[in-house]
Formats: sequence, C-alpha cells, structure tokens
Amino acid sequence: MGELKGKKVLVTGGAGFIGYHLCKKLSDLTSNLTIYDNLSSGKMENVKDVPKAKLVKGDILDLKKLLTLDKFDIIYHLAAQVVVPYSMENPLIDFETNAKGTVQVLEKARKDHAKLVFASSAAVYGNPSVFPTPETYGFHPFSCYGLSKVVGEEYCNMYQSQYSLDIAITRFANVYGSRCHGVIHDFLDKLAANPGKLEIIGTGLQSRDFIHISDVVDALVTVGSEDSANGKVYNLGYGTTISIIDLAKMMLKILNLEKKTFISTTGVSWQGDVTKIWFDNSKAKKELNWNPKVNLEDAIKEVIAERKLSK
Ligand SMILES: NC(=O)c1ccc[n+]([C@@H]2O[C@H](COP(=O)([O-])OP(=O)(O)OC[C@H]3O[C@@H](n4cnc5c(N)ncnc54)[C@H](O)[C@@H]3O)[C@@H](O)[C@H]2O)c1
Repeated sequence: MGELKGKKVLVTGGAGFIGYHLCKKLSDLTSNLTIYDNLSSGKMENVKDVPKAKLVKGDILDLKKLLTLDKFDIIYHLAAQVVVPYSMENPLIDFETNAKGTVQVLEKARKDHAKLVFASSAAVYGNPSVFPTPETYGFHPFSCYGLSKVVGEEYCNMYQSQYSLDIAITRFANVYGSRCHGVIHDFLDKLAANPGKLEIIGTGLQSRDFIHISDVVDALVTVGSEDSANGKVYNLGYGTTISIIDLAKMMLKILNLEKKTFISTTGVSWQGDVTKIWFDNSKAKKELNWNPKVNLEDAIKEVIAERKLSK
C-alpha cells in the first residue's frame, strides 16, 4: 500500500459519522491531520475522540477560510448535507452545500495540487434497473441529494481532466456502525421507547446494501494512498441487499423481541426514497484488493451491546 506517513491530510466533514471513523484511522497513519467542519451535524465528541487531529471550525461555503488553511497533500471531501427528504424540501440549500461546496473544496485542492477523494453515494444511481449495480450504470438520480452528488462527481471529473488533479470517487451504499445515524439506530431508538411496537417508514419492502464503517474506512485509506486509484470510481457496498422489514425482523430476533413487538408500516415513503440498493462491488474488490469483512447480523449485535454499555 502507498504511504500516508508524512502526508498532510485534510478531512472535510471529519466531525461526522464516517469522518470520525476515518480520522481515527488516519491519525494512526499520519501525524498531520486536520478536520474542517462547521459542526452542523457533526459532533464535538467525535473530534475530541481523535486527539491527534486539529479541528478548524469552518464552512466549505467559506472559500476564503478554506484557501487560507495550510497546504495539504490529500483531501478527503466528506462534508455534505446528507438527508434525502431534507434535500427535497430544501433543494437550494442541498445544492449549495453539496454542489457548490464541492467546487469550493476542489478549488482548495487545485490551489494545493492535492489529491482529492470524494464521498459520493448510491443516490447517483436513483432506482436502477440493473442489480447488482455496477459503477458503469450511469447517473439516474431520483432525489435532489442524488443530483447534487452527481454534480459533485461531474466537477471532480472536470477538475481531473482540465486541471490534471488526482481525484478518486467513492460511492457509498448504506454505511452503518457505532455513532451512525440511519435506520438501524432509528429502530433501536423506537424500540427503547416502546418495545411493543416498531413502525417502519415506507412499505418495508425497500431494500438496502449495508456496509460496515470499518470496511469503508479500509477502502478509503487505500483509495487515498494508492496512485492507482486516481481517476477511478468505486462502489463501496457489501454486495448484498436486505429489505427493511427483514432487517427489522433480524433486529427483533437478536433482541429476543420477535414475539413481543408488533411491526407496522406507514406504507408511504418520503419523497426521493429509492426502492433498492444493491452494489456490484467487484471493481473495488479486484483493484483495491478490498474484501468487506463485517457481517450485518454480527455488527448489529455489537451496536446493541455498545448501546447497552453506554447507558
Ligand atoms: N452514511 C451513509 O450511509 C452515506 C451513504 C452515502 C454517502 N455518504 C456520504 O458520506 C459523507 C459523510 O456522511 P456521514 O454519514 O458521515 O454524514 P454526517 O452528517 O455524519 O457528516 C457530515 C459532516 O459534514 C459536516 N458539514 C455539513 N455541512 C458542512 C459545511 N457546509 N461545511 C463544513 N462542514 C459541513 C457536518 O457537520 C458533519 O460533520 C457525506 O458526503 C455523505 O453524503 C454517506
């Protein structure tokens, strides 16, 4: 693997869920790590738990501040508005943060001649007709969030071809693990409040490819350090799919609540919600020598145990 030692690394959105885990790993590999985050959804606790990283509190929309930061060798661009329904209600804010914000971070990379790793999403595929979905499926966004990620990717392609920047794009499926937000934690919160009832938003038939944060971090480190990843796009998913209703049943079984909890569905999804995410991850496996290791059921057991401990 290429070396990160001695490299100056910037992580935008480093106080968020994925950013925290990535920074924790990076802080073992380089002594020069900076987090740039406006703490809108990120947490101070995440920053404090990576004591070797320096925090600069700032917004990616503040170009002046971005450009006056130190010079970096590698920039991981994770900062984003990440909520699909919010993007449908506030398309302009979503566009500002995810599309314009990405161009601003690219400007910082251009100034520094830094390599940039962009955090994109399954949302660029929308509702695919090909499963498992390969990177070559193309852009078919179904939400404003998905569209703003497409714009971010296209600007990455532009900066790569026109300014010869080294850029790698990673598209994440549903990332989960400790400190995450999302359906697994929503279910656990609901069950903690009322173990007798679990309401699923939507039909429950929508399905997702869940990938554990530790597997995503492994891939991100390789993508950031290997020159061979430059100019490439990688799907980072486990390569399987599970319906939300089956996920709920799996969780109830682990919690020994199968016979005690009544599952209901609202029947109506939020605007921009997609039916199925199931990634073809063979390119990342082959080219990055990456093999996602963490099994969903085992990891949920760990998340549950961790929540019990933290109470
Ligand atoms: N979590 C997933 O399952 C998932 C799936 C696909 C793609 N992604 C992408 O991965 C990245 C990280 O997601 P996450 O799950 O860690 O989300 P998160 O909300 O936990 O982290 C996002 C971070 O960005 C920061 N941020 C937001 N707007 C900012 C701004 N204008 N300036 C500076 N900082 C700002 C937030 O404070 C937060 O710390 C995002 O780009 C997201 O779109 C995540």
